[in-house]
Amino acid sequence: MQDALQLLKTRRSIKPVELGGPGPTAAEIETLLTVASRVPDHGKLVPWRFIIFEGEARLAAGEAIVAAFRSKYPDAKPEHVEAERNRLARAPLVIAVVSRAGPHVKIPEWEQVLSAGAAAMSLVLAAHALGYAASWITEWYAYDRSVLDALGLAPNERIAGFVHVGRPSAPPEDRPRPPLSEIATRFSSR
Ligand SMILES: Cc1cc2nc3c(=O)[nH]c(=O)nc-3n(C[C@H](O)[C@H](O)[C@H](O)COP(=O)(O)O)c2cc1C
Repeated sequence: MQDALQLLKTRRSIKPVELGGPGPTAAEIETLLTVASRVPDHGKLVPWRFIIFEGEARLAAGEAIVAAFRSKYPDAKPEHVEAERNRLARAPLVIAVVSRAGPHVKIPEWEQVLSAGAAAMSLVLAAHALGYAASWITEWYAYDRSVLDALGLAPNERIAGFVHVGRPSAPPEDRPRPPLSEIATRFSSR
C-alpha cells in the first residue's frame, strides 16, 4: 500500500478506456464502499447511496443509455450506438454515487450534496489505495431522466458521479495544478 500522503499528492484520474481488469474482488468492493460511506454527513442523513455495475450488468445498463441516445439521435451510426452501449463497460467496475439530498428542516441541501461529493472522492482515493486507478465522471446520461429511471433512481435522486475503477495500462502524465498562491489566501483583519 502506498504511503497515504504520497498517494494524495500524486493521484491522477485514468480514463475509463485505460482501466483494465481484473477489477476489485468482492472483499475489495466492500472496502471501497466502507470507505466511501465514512464521510462527513451533517445530521447523519446518509444523503447518498451506491449502485454497483459489474460484468454483464454493465452492458444491461448500457441498453438504457442506448435507448435514450437513439431517441435523441434516431439516425446515429451503428458505431456510435455501440460506443453508447459500452459506456459503463469500459472499466471492470463502475460505482454510481447517487445523491439523495433534499429539503430538510435543519440541514441545508447544499451540505447534503457536498457529502455525496465527499463519498465519491473517498471512493476514488480508496480505489487508488488498493492499487487500482479510478475516474470520477458523469457524462450526458447522468442527466437523462429516462436513463436515471432505468437505473432505479427516484425523482429526487441525482448522479454525483460514475466512479470507474480498474488497473491502469500505463502511468499517467500529470496535469497542471493551480498555484497555491492563486487559490489560498490568509485572512487578515483590516
Ligand atoms: C462531478 C464531476 C463530474 C465529472 N465529469 C466528468 C466527465 O463527464 N468527463 C470528464 O472527462 N471528466 C469529468 N470530471 C473530471 C474528472 O473526474 C477528473 O477530475 C479530470 O479528468 C482531471 O483528472 P485528475 O483527477 O487527474 O485531476 C468530473 C469531475 C467531477 C468532480
